[in-house]
Amino acid sequence: MSTIQRAVDVGVFIPVGNNGWIASTNAPKVPGSYEHNLQVTLLAERLGFDFVLSMAKWRGYGGPSKHWDVTLESLTTMAGLAQATKTIDIWGTVHMMIFPPAIVAKMVATLDQISGGRVGLNLVSGSNPHDLGQLGLWKPLDHAGRYELADEWIRVVKRLWSEDRVDHKGTFFELNDCMSNPKPSKRPTIICAGASDRGFQFTIDNCDASFFTASDDDASIARGKRAKELAVRAGKPDFKSYGLFMVVPGRTDAEAQARLDRFDAGVDREALATQTAEYSSDVSAKQNFAAQFFIDQGARVSSVLGGTLTGSAESLARRMARTIVEGELDGVTLIVPDFIEDLRFMAEEVFPRMEELGVSTKLGKSLETA
Ligand SMILES: Cc1cc2nc3c(=O)[nH]c(=O)nc-3n(C[C@H](O)[C@H](O)[C@H](O)COP(=O)(O)O)c2cc1C
Repeated sequence: MSTIQRAVDVGVFIPVGNNGWIASTNAPKVPGSYEHNLQVTLLAERLGFDFVLSMAKWRGYGGPSKHWDVTLESLTTMAGLAQATKTIDIWGTVHMMIFPPAIVAKMVATLDQISGGRVGLNLVSGSNPHDLGQLGLWKPLDHAGRYELADEWIRVVKRLWSEDRVDHKGTFFELNDCMSNPKPSKRPTIICAGASDRGFQFTIDNCDASFFTASDDDASIARGKRAKELAVRAGKPDFKSYGLFMVVPGRTDAEAQARLDRFDAGVDREALATQTAEYSSDVSAKQNFAAQFFIDQGARVSSVLGGTLTGSAESLARRMARTIVEGELDGVTLIVPDFIEDLRFMAEEVFPRMEELGVSTKLGKSLETA
């Protein structure tokens, strides 16, 4: 039994898109509705999860499963969830290319009041030319240009959160004696999932935490450790790293695998092909980590994200704990197939088993009766 405990935050990547993260006609019923996300968030809070995160996504991928053809807008969803909850952190997402910084500065200051200081912001520099292009808002910048915009964007937002009046004439934005009140009660948590070297540099320079897709492999462990090393080198020892784990749990390993097999039997090849094509159409597809991830995924033809873990409570606890401990992670973001039953299983059966593997969380300790 390990004596050193690694205390980690655990959050839920809530399913604001229909089908959740399973591109299959056999996906569990996940409607992508506000009502469902409210139920998931209230359950997550009762179970002791630390945060919920919602993605920003504008265009679905169609196909027989109509994958992500229904998606809620992130920040307005988070406003509702902030009002409905008391303790759980509420983190929303914006694409910096489409929302002017002064608008988001005020939206987040408002969310800070609604949530009583529980708001956080996930910054996205990219996406793909179809997702934002259908809105007429995709800027024809390459990967490096998008991060230049991102650097300027977050600098402006931080100034608006702390200064009375802001004058700014930059490459992308202009503010004229801009007054933005109220100020947030404290600087909201800022996170980013930029995974390329440039995206990672932006995250270390400007954010509190890095989010990346994780599995039980050496690459995930190396990524976690590298985040810590770079942060220390940048003089930010408090910088955090969070692994995004997609899991398919079962009572036994075989049962979990059978669930995944069933999802895969209905895999929506058409939706995946559209996703791959849309990300491939980025002029910077080679630099864009998300594009590479989806192109690889399209080649594998699986209904779930690459690196998805299947297993019993024992197996999932062991496999996730290894990455968390060896990769020095500070947190976990979870994706599950069924955001009610599976979330409960993870909180009650999986995370408590990690205690003896050196990972402590708040899960399994609350008196959940509902
Ligand atoms: C946990 C997590 C959340 C993400 N959320 C979004 C999102 O809401 N919208 C989006 O367009 N991209 C999202 N992404 C993609 C990343 O923001 C980022 O663009 C991608 O990892 C590519 O990295 P790069 O910009 O460094 O190439 C997410 C990725 C991860 C791992």
